[in-house]
Amino acid sequence: MTTRKLILAAAAATLAASAYAAKPARPRADVLPLKELMGHVMQRNAEQLWSWSAEEVDASGTHSGQPKDEAAWENAESDALTVIELTYVLETPSYRLPSADWHRYVARARAAAKASAKAAEAHDYPGLQKAGDDLNAACVACHLHFVPELEKGPPAPAL
Ligand code: HEC
Repeated sequence: MTTRKLILAAAAATLAASAYAAKPARPRADVLPLKELMGHVMQRNAEQLWSWSAEEVDASGTHSGQPKDEAAWENAESDALTVIELTYVLETPSYRLPSADWHRYVARARAAAKASAKAAEAHDYPGLQKAGDDLNAACVACHLHFVPELEKGPPAPAL
């Protein structure tokens, strides 16, 4: 979770300087640009979903994000359903890139988000963790294909 955030934050900084040229099929002036949709909407909602399966270790021990009651499981399911809906947004003309591979990568992310929703509904914590990892892998796979510079880590510190 923390690693994911760090990688994406570093990547957002490098992307500004990249030669990324792919543009959505029909970008519209009155909708968020893809970059903003990703950075503000997709990232934020995925983080909310991942927070339910985050295991953080610090000096005071391990802290698990595992939903503890029915309301929390419902919220986890809601976060997964939001990410599913966002994958449909990615297939609209305002956002999809003109490539046959776009649909394949979107479908992979959607399958992982659907597995998250199913696991949350079943109160299945290992399932929620696995689906969260699969979702992260799906985000990274699409970025590596279309915007590889996004997934490059920060430069190694000078010796
Ligand atoms: C189908 C492909 C695809 C999937 C799936 C995908 N992304 Fe992206 N993402 C992109 C593309 C393309 C960009 C670059 C957009 C641009 O800069 O115009 C991007 C950019 C980003 C950025 C950088 C935004 C910025 O401010 O520069 C973040 C953060 C991000 N995605 C998060 C996610 C997360 C989290 C997921 C999974 C839950 C995800 N993405 C899934 C294609 C995808």
